[in-house]
Amino acid sequence: MGPSPVKVTVTGAAGQIGYALLFRIASGAMLGPDTPVRLSLLEITPALKAAEGTAMELDDCAFPLLAGIDITDDARSAFDGTSVALLVGARPRTAGMERGDLLEANGGIFKPQGEAINAGAADDVRILVVGNPANTNALIARTHAPDVPADRWTAMMRLDHNRALTQVARRLDAPVADITRMTVWGNHSATQYPDVSNARVAGTPVRDRVDQEWLESTFIPTVAKRGAAIIDARGASSAASAANAAIDHVHDWVLGTRDGDWVSAGIVSDGSYGIPEGLVAGFPVTSSGGSFQVVQGLEIDDFSRRRIDASVAELADEQAAIRSLGLI
Ligand code: NAD
Ligand code: LMR
Repeated sequence: MGPSPVKVTVTGAAGQIGYALLFRIASGAMLGPDTPVRLSLLEITPALKAAEGTAMELDDCAFPLLAGIDITDDARSAFDGTSVALLVGARPRTAGMERGDLLEANGGIFKPQGEAINAGAADDVRILVVGNPANTNALIARTHAPDVPADRWTAMMRLDHNRALTQVARRLDAPVADITRMTVWGNHSATQYPDVSNARVAGTPVRDRVDQEWLESTFIPTVAKRGAAIIDARGASSAASAANAAIDHVHDWVLGTRDGDWVSAGIVSDGSYGIPEGLVAGFPVTSSGGSFQVVQGLEIDDFSRRRIDASVAELADEQAAIRSLGLI
């Protein structure tokens, strides 16, 4: 008999990202070729039928690693016994909606989901929040799950990280796999700070091959505004690349990062690099033994300090807003 299946919960399973994500999880791309999975799909009631359609397609793939699929609109049952929770479903901003309205609407989703995770998730649960505003939604959910350790809560910065890798590789005409030690700090928003200070191309410093003008006027805005550029071009927000980043994030978290390299993840700050404790912010991290560790000891120059502080200030504002709304 092989290993028992790992329960993986995906919220917003009938959405765009869900459609690009579920098939890759079931194929083994996320947890590896030796780990069977049982998928738990959480949707709102009107979208259950669409989720059932996706489940029919998953069945039709005959994935050897897919041990079963459950579909529900009940958060308690969706998260019961789950080891990996991908919180993708969120309330999109609609015309006329203020930031406070958006945060409040998301509070209505992430508070009960946090409570459900607290009530029934497996002891080894790992959570990745993808639904925007991802960092602050993670903060809301975590606040309502006091029994789940802080290091199990993450928000997705990996799409920003992957975007940054490609922009540098293109600029240097190098294979993307040669670019290492990239960092994206702060919030998954336009204030994020993609940072090449320590990045390498085939082992040599990227900083020696790019100038400050390119970094400031092209690289940083291109990466930070890429989400909006995709929406403009596609008429819908990134889906396959977001799903791919979620796969990368959980894969590396569970199975480990490459020797000599690191990745970016939104994690609960322990105060490292002067980022206030408790905020969920992008950091450079490695993973071994199934947990992320912040890469310590990096030098932060004045330019980087200002950029990090600006994005962290936005996270602190979001924290203050959800506090004043009574969401945390
Ligand atoms: P989508 O609108 O296609 O799908 C969202 C799904 O979530 C819908 O099917 C909806 O019914 C469901 N949903 C809503 N409330 C729910 C709830 N309470 N429980 C369960 N399901 C619920 O959106 P999408 O394109 O799949 O994007 C999902 C989210 O991911 C958005 O918030 C988007 O902004 C965000 N996103 C984040 C990143 C990132 O890098 N962090 C990248 C791309 C998109
Ligand atoms: C992205 O970075 O592609 C998305 O977060 C954009 C969005 O607003 O959904």
